[in-house]
Order: sequence, then C-alpha cells, then structure tokens
Amino acid sequence: MSDSSPFTAPSLAPALARALHDLLGPSGILTDAGDVAPFTTDWRSLYQGQCAAVLRPADTAQLAAIVSLCGQHAVPIVPQGGNTSMVGGATPDASGRAVVVCLSRMNRIREIDPHDLTMVVEAGVTLKAAQDAAREAGMMLPLSISSEGSAQIGGVIATNAGGNNTVRYGNARELLVGLEAVMPDGQVFNGLRRLRKDNTGYALRQLLAGSEGTLGILSTVILQLQPQPRSREIALCAVADAQAALALFGAFRAQDPAAIQAFEYMSGTGMAMVTDLIEGATLPLAEPAPAYVLVELASARADDTIRTLMESVLGDALESGTVLDAVMAESESQSAALWRLREEHAEAQRRAGASVKNDVSVPVSRVPALIERATVACEALIPGIRVAPFGHLGDGNIHFNLVQPEGMDPVAFLARDHEIMDSVCAIVRDLDGSFSAEHGVGQLKTYMMPEWRGGAELETMRRIKQALDPRNIMNPGKIFPAQPT
Ligand code: MLT
Ligand code: ZN
Repeated sequence: MSDSSPFTAPSLAPALARALHDLLGPSGILTDAGDVAPFTTDWRSLYQGQCAAVLRPADTAQLAAIVSLCGQHAVPIVPQGGNTSMVGGATPDASGRAVVVCLSRMNRIREIDPHDLTMVVEAGVTLKAAQDAAREAGMMLPLSISSEGSAQIGGVIATNAGGNNTVRYGNARELLVGLEAVMPDGQVFNGLRRLRKDNTGYALRQLLAGSEGTLGILSTVILQLQPQPRSREIALCAVADAQAALALFGAFRAQDPAAIQAFEYMSGTGMAMVTDLIEGATLPLAEPAPAYVLVELASARADDTIRTLMESVLGDALESGTVLDAVMAESESQSAALWRLREEHAEAQRRAGASVKNDVSVPVSRVPALIERATVACEALIPGIRVAPFGHLGDGNIHFNLVQPEGMDPVAFLARDHEIMDSVCAIVRDLDGSFSAEHGVGQLKTYMMPEWRGGAELETMRRIKQALDPRNIMNPGKIFPAQPT
C-alpha cells in the first residue's frame, strides 16, 4: 500500500493494514461506516458490534493469507456468510478489534457429479443457489431452512443447520462428504474427498461442521445430493393440539417412514400472525384451528404411491378425528403457497414484536408434553405473552417462540429473555432435551453451556479450542462462556 492508500482502520496496526490492502486491493476491504454497518448487527437486531474492517477474500489462498496475517497480529476474526444467525453467531463484539471476514465473493459452484451424487460448492454460495443448481442438474440438495435465500453454505455447515428435511436426510453434517477449511494458523486443511469410506484418523470435517467458526473457516465443501423426487404430495392439516399432530406423524410413519420428507408443526397463534402480517398469505381451510401440520411426502418413483399414501392416511385421520380438516396441494403454486405459511413464521413473528426464541429439541414422543408444559409456564410468567411454537416435529425440534404481549414495551420484554428461556429450558431438561437443536450456541446461549454441557464435555471442547486456536482469534466469544478471571 502506498502512503496515499485510502485504507485506514485505526484499530489495525499499520503493517497489517498495508499487508491486507496489498493482498485484497481496495475492493476487497470495507471500512466506511455505512458499508460496514450491515456486518456488525445480526438479523434479529439483538447485538450491535463494531469491527476494524470487513475483508472480502475471493479465494482460499486469500482467505488463508488473511487468517495468517491476522494471527500474526493477534487480531480476532469473525467469519460471516449470509448473516442469518439466530444467536448472534456471526456478529463481532463491541470492542472494534475484530475483522469480519465475509465469504460472499467465494461463490462458485465448482462441480456437480451425477454419478457420485455430489456437488462441490464454495462457502459463499447461498443455500438457495445450491439447491437450484442441484435441481437444474436433475438432483436434489435435501437441506431446506427458512433463511435459505440468504444463508450461505459455509455458515450452514459451520452451524450444522437442520431445517425441514432433517426427518429424512439428517442435519447439514450428515450431508457433508468433504471439506476444505482454513485453520486458525492459516494452514489449509484439504479434505475435499468424496469417499463413502475413509477411516483414516479423526473425523475432522465432522468436528469443523457445527464448530460455529471457532476452529477455522470453511472455504469449500462437497455435499451429498439425492435423486430428484418424481412424485411429491403436500398437505396442510388442522389439528386440535400437538398430541393429535404426533398421532398423525405416527400414522404416516407406520405406513412408510421413508416417504416423510417434512413434518412441520405450527400453532394457531403463529399461523394467525402469518396470515395477518404477511402479504398474500391466506389460510386455505374453512376455519382457523388450534394447531396445524404441514406434511410433505416424496418418492423417487413416478407412480401414484405417494398420493395414495397421503389420501389414505388423511382419510383415516379425518374419520377418527385426529385431523379436523385438511387440504392437499394440487399444483406447484399451491405447494409453494402451503410452504409459505410455514416458512414465513420467523418473519411474521419479527413483525409482531419482540420475540424470545427457544430452539429446543426433545425426543419426538415428548413434543406434546413440551408444548403443553412450556405454554403453561410462560403464560404464568408473563400474562398476555403470545406463545407461538412451531417447527420440525418429525425430528423433535420445536421453536418454542414467545412474542411480547400486545402493547408491552419490547425492551422490557427482552429484558426478561433469560427468565423466559430458563423457564422453558427447565422443562426441556426434564424431558431429556437440548437447549439448542439447530441454531447453535453463538453468543446468545454461551451462558447455558456450563449447566448443560459442563464437566468433561465442555472441558474437552475447551482443550480442542486451545490446541487449535491458542490465541483465541477465531470467532471469539462464541460457544464458550467467558472464563472467570
Ligand atoms: C425456522 O425453522 O423457520 C427457524 O429455525 C426460525 C425460527 O426459529 O424463528
Ligand atoms: Zn427451524
């Protein structure tokens, strides 16, 4: 960098600023307040951080050089993809010392292999773009989350995202066949192998998946694809409660567990928020119900097995009263409209006011107990609180989300977030569940780690972190609670 370089970042050593400028050029570095602002707050607006600069590498070599340079200067690095974390996992702290490393320029889909059923994708590709590319090639990437239009593959794998298809295909980790990552010392770990069998030491890619950027930055991954389903049926069902929803799940599972592509639960309260606050979202049933299920069945076969299965299970369920009313999609646009009622839950809740999210999981059989008990607990804690649980009933992951009472000051509501989360989590714990099913720990839930994962489990995680990142430069403040000084 010449002395006249426009790149100045007061909290970075001049030698580091110079080296970064030489590496990335002016277009690879953002420092203007307006440009940097979107990178220093999270989707939920829970955190407001600062950063010295936003760095935008174009390839793995630049990414590795950034990590190595920042390591030499002990500058913290916050990796950021689509910035869709629900737990502040990609937001820097308020010190302004960190750099945000934005992966958006690393956005190539390098290869799709129809024989191996794999795709090689760089970290900055959005999940939606990866799904579309797989579909155009006649295959399917079976990972779907509400934020897929913005969420990027690197973040999706780094947080081991779950979503709507976990019931059939597992979480992001299960779809991860190979991985390349930049480790905290700047070395590139090249594990871009697409092998079904490879027992050669520790499963490092599985360690990096779900590490939330604390052990390295994922640069490229190989994902497992599936054949494109040739038949697909989607239905929206009105039910009396979660117990009926579970009974319906059991009925489908008893017939053909492998056909269940998604099995999603929604409360009447949450659905009303969607139809009230999202333009064009309407309920295609005669009247509102206490709760709903969206079920998707799919098969690689082009015959009518799936339709017959859907009709027969729903027919029985309507007759027995397990289902109060149901509608089956008759076209692609109706399918999309039914899915939209589910996918817009998070956005509708954001519009309805401040909300506290409990991304919890319990054994599937205990979902009704969770919903019943946590509803009672929350309504007793804050009268008027809007209880709007929804989510992935088929894998036991419920977003037990609470929206502020109408008219309550949102700040006063959010001031009670730990109290609300703790009262839900006490029930989750009693039901042998987890306090974070798919959103991760980020910075929002670090305080829960000692109680839930304390002892040997947390200590082992700390030792791994210390061994790989002794200077604690990789996404500091995430996963681990601050150590008492
Ligand atoms: C979802 O499944 O839509 C989410 O994970 C969103 C949420 O918890 O609000
Ligand atoms: Zn979810």
